[in-house]
Parts: sequence; structure tokens; C-alpha cells
Amino acid sequence: WCALVVWSRSFTNLVKLMKSKDNKMSFIEVDADCDFSFQNLPYGVFSTANNPKHRIGVAIGKEILDLSVITSLFVGPVMSRHQDVFDQPTLNAFMALGYEAWKETRRTLQALLSVNNSTLRDDVSLRTRSVWVKYHKEKYHLDDNHQKTAWGDYTDFYSSRDHATNVGTMFRGKENALMPNWLRLPVGYHGRASSVVVSGTPIRRPRGQMRPDQTKPPVFGPSKQLDIELEMAFFVGGENHLGEPIPIHKAHEHIFGMVLMNDWSARDIQAWEYVPLGPFLGKNFGTTISPWVVPMEALLPFVEPNPIQDPEPLPYLQHQDAYTFNINLFVSLKGKDMASAVNICSSNFRYMYWTMKQQLAHHTVNGCNVRPGDLLASGTISGPNPESFGSMLELSWRGSKTIDLGGGNSRTFLNDGDDITITGYCEGNGSRVGFGSCQGTIVSALQP
Ligand SMILES: *[C@@H]1O[C@H](CO)[C@@H](O)[C@H](O)[C@H]1NC(C)=O
Ligand SMILES: *[C@@H]1O[C@H](CO)[C@@H](O)[C@H](O)[C@H]1NC(C)=O
Ligand SMILES: *[C@@H]1O[C@H](CO)[C@@H](O)[C@H](O)[C@H]1NC(C)=O
Repeated sequence: WCALVVWSRSFTNLVKLMKSKDNKMSFIEVDADCDFSFQNLPYGVFSTANNPKHRIGVAIGKEILDLSVITSLFVGPVMSRHQDVFDQPTLNAFMALGYEAWKETRRTLQALLSVNNSTLRDDVSLRTRSVWVKYHKEKYHLDDNHQKTAWGDYTDFYSSRDHATNVGTMFRGKENALMPNWLRLPVGYHGRASSVVVSGTPIRRPRGQMRPDQTKPPVFGPSKQLDIELEMAFFVGGENHLGEPIPIHKAHEHIFGMVLMNDWSARDIQAWEYVPLGPFLGKNFGTTISPWVVPMEALLPFVEPNPIQDPEPLPYLQHQDAYTFNINLFVSLKGKDMASAVNICSSNFRYMYWTMKQQLAHHTVNGCNVRPGDLLASGTISGPNPESFGSMLELSWRGSKTIDLGGGNSRTFLNDGDDITITGYCEGNGSRVGFGSCQGTIVSALQP
């Protein structure tokens, strides 16, 4: 019996060893369950305790490669002329360079971080200056000090059929759940970029006007139905001139990379204000994104066939190439009254009905110009099963039932002090490409 245990232990170790050897693509150590693998190489803006300058880095394992220190190593035909984009406090200039520049940069980074390349691996001085350990202990930013200038506009779509059907059923009944336009175009609204914040920023419970009792006049106060929305978003790169649409076959060349997003929503404020022009103060008090932007090239191995669209979309929305991604998504909640976080939703980005290419083609088809750094979000990503519903509105079915958190704890909507964390990753063929986390804690409303 003992021998068996010893054998199985050493077998487990052997498997671990083989796995870690398989994963030995880079001279930088990466654990098998780490989101930031050699296959990922996400971009972000960070600063360190001994250097408060905000600069661009690439996360790998538990470390960050500081691109501002190694600008001169980008010697390809495109990037040799644009090395300055890596010594900036935002990613916007790099995003502006476009598709060929991103591909070339990724090839250079994969070469420089490869176990076989000596340039960085064997230069102790350069490595000391450019590789920062334990990124999670460092402060990182996607913004600069004036965070409003870092990203441009923010648009939020509504592209999960299950989510739209659930919400439509709650508010209009099953027969009229989807509005007549929903299967014909990716419905969206223009959100507010000034209140998009990076993971870790507390979210203050908004106050506003609402009408809980339809037989009485509206009241003013802190929202009592504060909610989450599990979303993902992509950053636009390159740009189009005002009046010139981005055709769908070119759309992927304008999609730089993706982040996790929590589109915090005050349902009671939203319900009273949204007719007839759509979401406003129920949404624009805060939107959280994860700090590391995963490049689309890292996600391509996880692409899947697009959903069947019936009725067939108009020609400007048609594309044959697969652009649906298998990204596992999770939402966890930890209240002040709870010992540990509890998962409340397991969903997947593959449940989207409209693709990001369709969203971008639709957004610009009237000639609307998008700019580098614009953020275009998916809308709540709900799947077909109740455990995959991406909002508390759906999980509690408009507050008609409680969401059980175990240990005697439950919610319908968020309490003050609740901590929400969204995580997500792709996995397959022994490689993992993850997004880190998108976290925010609710602080109580301002006192009148
Ligand atoms: C490094 O070189 C070896 C031997 O040529 C090769 O088998 C391996 O695939 C290379 N690794 C990477 C990450 O390029
Ligand atoms: C390492 O990678 C860099 C960047 O692509 C390249 O310029 C250099 O020639 C490579 N060095 C070796 C020894 O392969
Ligand atoms: C896994 O490998 C197969 C065969 O090489 C490839 O077609 C597929 O895209 C890979 N999938 C992932 C998720 O990497």
C-alpha cells in the first residue's frame, strides 16, 4: 500500500516534471495554471515602487517585461520606426499603429522571451532593468494620471441572446422577449468613458431617482438594486475616417485585444429612467475592466464556429471566418459577512450571438469614426443554463428569488462591502491564456 502511494506520488511528480518541461517555452518560469503564459503575452501599463513612471509592460508568469527599457530591441521593418510607442504612459499610440505593427511586436516578444534566445536571457544588466518580479505587488494602471484621456469612447452592446431573452421575458413577457430589431442588428448604446476604471478601484453605491411603487411619485436615494454585469470588451486599434465605414472583412484588423469587464448597473434607477432613450445614470457611475489586454493573436487558437444566425443578417454584417471564442468566465462574490468568495456564475464568451467583427462593422457602417483606445463591450454574457446567467437581475429573476451563497448567506442584489471578482481563461493543448481578474468592492452611498 505504501509502495503504491510512493509510486503514485513519484508518478505525479514525473507528470508534473514533464508538464513543466513541455511548458518551458520561455526562460522566465511560468506555472501551468498561470493566466499569463508564453502563449499569452498581454499588454498593460504599470509603475513600480522605485519608479512611479507609468509605462508599458508585458505580463509573463509572475513578472512584467518593461518595454520602455528595451525599445531599441524592436528592430523589425515597422517597429524600428516606432520604438517610441513603448515609452508612453498609455497603450493608445501602439494601438494606433495597426495590425502589422501588433503582429511584428508579438513575434519580437516571443523571440526575446524564448528559452532559445540569448539577447535578454544572458544579459544580466538588461534583465535586471527590464524584468519586474511579482507584478501583483506592484501598482499597475491601464490609465495615466488623467485616466480620462487614456481610453476614448466606450460603447456597450447587448449581444447575448440568452441575456436579452431573459431580460425581455421579465419586463415584456415571453412572446415579446426579443424586440423585432434584435436578430437583425447588434443593439448597443454609447456609454461613458470617464467612469471606466481599472480593477481594484472601489465602486460607490450611486444615489438617484427611482420609482419603486408605480402608484406613487418617484423617490430619491441610494440604489437598492445595485447589480453586476459579466462582460468582455475589446480595444479598437487603427482608425477610420469620419464618413468611411470599416468593412466587415477588415474588422479584425481593428481589434487590438480583449479585457474582462464589469458593467455595474443600478436596476432601480435604470428601470425608471430608460424610456425612451436607453441607459443613462443607472450605468455611468462606474465600469471596471481588467488591467491586462490580451492580444487577439493569443486568442485565435481558441476560436470556434460562429453561431448560426437566422434570419440571415444583411450583407454588411456577413462574414464566413470563425470569430467566436471559447473563453471560460466566472463571477465570484465575497460579502463582509462571508468567510470566502463564492462562485455565482460560470459562463462562456462563446454564447455571444453577434461577433466582435459584426459589432465593429455595424458601429461604423453609418460613417461613425472609431479611434485607437475606444472600448467596445459585449453586453452581459449569459448562457442557456441558470448558473451561466451573467447578472444578479437574472440570477435572482428580478429579485423574485434569492441567490444562495451557502453558510446561511444570500443576496438578491449587492450589499455594501460586497467584493465582486470576474476571471476568465482559455485552455487547450496544454496551454492556457487567461485574463487575470476584474475586481471591485461596493462602498456605501454618500450621505446626503
Ligand atoms: C528551442 O530550440 C530547440 C532546439 O532547436 C527546439 O526544439 C525548441 O522548439 C526551441 N524552443 C522554442 C521555444 O523556440
Ligand atoms: C533574439 O531575438 C531578437 C528579436 O527578434 C533577434 O533580433 C535576435 O537575433 C535573436 N537572437 C538569437 C540569438 O536568436
Ligand atoms: C490544438 O491542436 C490542434 C491540432 O494541432 C489545432 O487544430 C487546434 O487549433 C489546437 N487548439 C488549441 C485550443 O490550441
